[in-house]
Amino acid sequence: MEQFRFIWKYIMRHKWQYIGGIITLFILDFANLYIPKTTGVITDGLAAHTMDMQGVLKNVGIILAIGFMLAVGRFLWRYFIFGASRGIEHEIRDGMFAHLETLDVEYYNEHKTGDLMTRFTSDLNAVRMAIGPAVIAAFDAIVMTVMVIGQMMVYVNIKLTLVAVIPMIFIAAGELYYGKIMQKRYLERQEAVSELTDYVQESFSGVRVVKAFVRERAQMKEFAKANAKAKRKNLNIVKMEAVVMPLLDVVIGISSLLTLIYGGYLALSGEITVGRFVAFNQYITMLVWPMIACGEAINMFSQGGASIKRIKEVFEEEPEIADSEEVKEVDGLKGEICLNHLTFIHRGHSEPTLKDISLQIEAGTTLAVIGRTGNGKSTLVNLILHLYNTKPGMILLDGRDINTIPLKTLRENIAYVPQDNFLFSDTLKSNIAFGTDNAEMEEIIKATKTACIHDNIIAFPDGYETIVGERGVTLSGGQKQRSSIARALKKDAPILILDDALSAVDTDTEEKILQNLKENRKGKTTILIAHRISTIQNADVILVLEDGEAKECGNHKELMELGGIYKEMFEKQQLEAQIGEKRAAFQAEDFGGERKEDMQ
Ligand SMILES: Nc1ncnc2c1ncn2[C@@H]1O[C@H](COP(=O)(O)OP(=O)(O)OP(=O)(O)O)[C@@H](O)[C@H]1O
Ligand SMILES: [Mg+2]
Repeated sequence: MEQFRFIWKYIMRHKWQYIGGIITLFILDFANLYIPKTTGVITDGLAAHTMDMQGVLKNVGIILAIGFMLAVGRFLWRYFIFGASRGIEHEIRDGMFAHLETLDVEYYNEHKTGDLMTRFTSDLNAVRMAIGPAVIAAFDAIVMTVMVIGQMMVYVNIKLTLVAVIPMIFIAAGELYYGKIMQKRYLERQEAVSELTDYVQESFSGVRVVKAFVRERAQMKEFAKANAKAKRKNLNIVKMEAVVMPLLDVVIGISSLLTLIYGGYLALSGEITVGRFVAFNQYITMLVWPMIACGEAINMFSQGGASIKRIKEVFEEEPEIADSEEVKEVDGLKGEICLNHLTFIHRGHSEPTLKDISLQIEAGTTLAVIGRTGNGKSTLVNLILHLYNTKPGMILLDGRDINTIPLKTLRENIAYVPQDNFLFSDTLKSNIAFGTDNAEMEEIIKATKTACIHDNIIAFPDGYETIVGERGVTLSGGQKQRSSIARALKKDAPILILDDALSAVDTDTEEKILQNLKENRKGKTTILIAHRISTIQNADVILVLEDGEAKECGNHKELMELGGIYKEMFEKQQLEAQIGEKRAAFQAEDFGGERKEDMQ
């Protein structure tokens, strides 16, 4: 019932199309009735020798005219009702995508892509079937049945009609029960299909890992399992259909049989004419289609109902992060950031990821965040992006609580290079211009030069038009990172966040990018997250996170003087670098020695 309410508002938007379609259907069914009637008239006329050839031709003409009307009418109702159902499908799809775009990252953490994709494809298709073909089938079946039965009663004989119709009442009752069972089975089937899509999607995305670990066989086995489950669920449906469809035939057969016996008797006794007896038999065959159509309509309604339920679930999901009533528009941010006893617990965790972090930086500062892996660095910047909710007063930007800044304004004022630096399957140019609607080539090149990726890009045969991602060239890790940095720089926002964005870049290039950033970001706030001290030692403020706590804070010199975690990290990394250099030098010498020996 709830499903019905959900779809009803869409149907109402297309009510004229539905009304047009249904009226056409009604007229058609009515016209359809005249064919048996006219055949009856011809038969009776011929039998009683009251009709000449001209009379026959005239009646055949009527049948032809009705046939023509039927053809035009069938086009019309298809046009109206299929048009409406395609329209609704389009609206739901648009609406669902738009709604999903408003949902938080948390929703995507909890829902699988394959499942969402199934809702867009096979579920939506089932809904379309239920509001298009099924509506036609149901109306047609009902209208036809009522009219044909009415005609049988008026034109032929009431008693005969009752005898023929009684077996069909059982069908109607049976079909309702059947619909209920089918809906449950369809729901199970859709879930199985979702799981299957999920599995396929993950295995294709992770194909490199699968190959590297030689897990193809295991993947195939797992897939076969999911596939078998989908088959089982499909068979559950087929079994039910296999039982019901022949039953329909049996009932219709019984009806025909009863008609022949009782109708024959009535014709013999002269209660009805032979012509009417012939017409009656034609009417009975006309009832076969509505019976089947009714079964199919119930089938499609059940499928559609199950699928609407799944689509409705998506629509019912409310974004947890949305502009509250206290939101007030701002004309852009300057870039001052204040963290005030910031504590944050991730959903499903018992311990806070970030504990009581306080920090104040002026606009134009370069803030570096360093700490061991899993210490909450990414979480911290995600909070500044308002990807998760924080308590009022914990994060202030330009002195304003982050919860009072419209999400759109906030995010427009922050350029972000995520740790996984995702690129879309599109040209490099579009990827870099992603955050803006009108992209000037000059600005793009300025950004790529700053990110030290311009030279790489022009070396590709297609330059900036090179397609990256699944169907295009595969970029190296460092190229991807730098493209992603260029995308953020192109946005030229007051706050720039680089989450471990230089990890796959060699130290020389890193130094160059940092130097470029220094010039490019003068007067603007930049947040750098890194594991290497070399990346961040020139930052104005360095925040050292340890177990989610801000253990140390200050510039390089201050932290070295403090002699704590930072100094320890620095010395360790220095030592590692020295060892690395020594090893390289040693290997070179060794290699040279061998050469010398060879030459002797
Ligand atoms: N969406 C999430 N839901 C639940 N827990 C999360 C989520 N994201 C991160 N965590 C947890 O929060 C902790 C900190 O993760 P975070 O990604 O902030 O670390 P990090 O310092 O950026 O690590 P790295 O240096 O490896 O990038 C981890 O224990 C992680 O499991
Ligand atoms: Mg991280």
